[in-house]
Amino acid sequence: MYSIQATNYTIEIGSLIDSSLALLLGSQFKESKKIILVDENTKQFCLEYLITSYQELAFAEIIELPAGEENKQLEMCVQVWEALTEYQIDRKALIINLGGGVITDMGGLIASLYKRGISFINIPTTLLAMVDASVGGKTGVDLGIFKNQIGLFAFPKAVFIDPGFLNTLDNLQFKNGLAEMLKHGLISDLNHWKKLKTCVLNHENLTDELIQLSVNIKNQIVISDPFEVNERKKLNFGHTIGHAIESFYLEKKTPILHGLAIAAGIQIENYISLQMNFISQIEYDEINQFISQTYPKLNFTSENFDQIISNTKQDKKNIKNQVMMVLLKSIGSAVVDVPVTEEMIRSGLNNYLKG
Ligand code: GLY
Repeated sequence: MYSIQATNYTIEIGSLIDSSLALLLGSQFKESKKIILVDENTKQFCLEYLITSYQELAFAEIIELPAGEENKQLEMCVQVWEALTEYQIDRKALIINLGGGVITDMGGLIASLYKRGISFINIPTTLLAMVDASVGGKTGVDLGIFKNQIGLFAFPKAVFIDPGFLNTLDNLQFKNGLAEMLKHGLISDLNHWKKLKTCVLNHENLTDELIQLSVNIKNQIVISDPFEVNERKKLNFGHTIGHAIESFYLEKKTPILHGLAIAAGIQIENYISLQMNFISQIEYDEINQFISQTYPKLNFTSENFDQIISNTKQDKKNIKNQVMMVLLKSIGSAVVDVPVTEEMIRSGLNNYLKG
């Protein structure tokens, strides 16, 4: 079992059966009511494994939410709060979020606001949630099409990452999570980037060690700046444009996977990094070539640029209506709070479509 100390909780990576979950359930939360939040996929594929492994969960209340980013809305939280009220769940209760990023983000918010806050733990089941959403204390829901517009920082009691859940990882889910891992390499570790590049041709190269390294990179940044005043903004590389593109597809009611939007965001923000003389041509080319070979080209057109640019105005890093971006200085090093004009974003979008 590989253990990482986070702000005020522990992240364990390894088989759930060998983790300290049993200890937690049998001691601190022995007398607590347990609620497991699932979606239709984790209910079908992961829940039985969890419940049959821990007798303490035999009487847990199971609450199922519909899967998909389009359901990451406050209305869903209200339904869960009503269910918790009906089950007479008190403040000593424990919510276990078993799922991808939608479940861990939304479950964290639900737990943190119910009766002013009850405990929660995250058991991420997708690669994306393992390396990003489940760690770092960002909870939230979208407001209409705008990503994570409503939320708060709230830290889980523990995070258990069991790579065994990835046994059936299909190519799309692999790429979905890989985008965030590549981002970790790009903003802080050249070697991580290099190793991750080899995973595309051979998924078996995606070892538990690489997952650990990504979680470590994220965790170190979060520890240095838990509430995103400065350093943590680096974790948003690729996300100013990526989220704006994701919102565009949410508005069209044809949502795309977060990682695919972030891959496009990385390409466009890499181009802006070049145009603003932060990154060298040679490193720009390396990133551009790899991401464009690995990820499908998204199908928006120049007619959609105004909408995408308008969506960037909701980015949480903006200051006084000015879009502020995270840009790359080199592979492994990023700079935050760079003001970027609409023209620059438009030229990045144009370059993406041409490439
Ligand atoms: N996903 C970016 C962060 O947690 O800060």
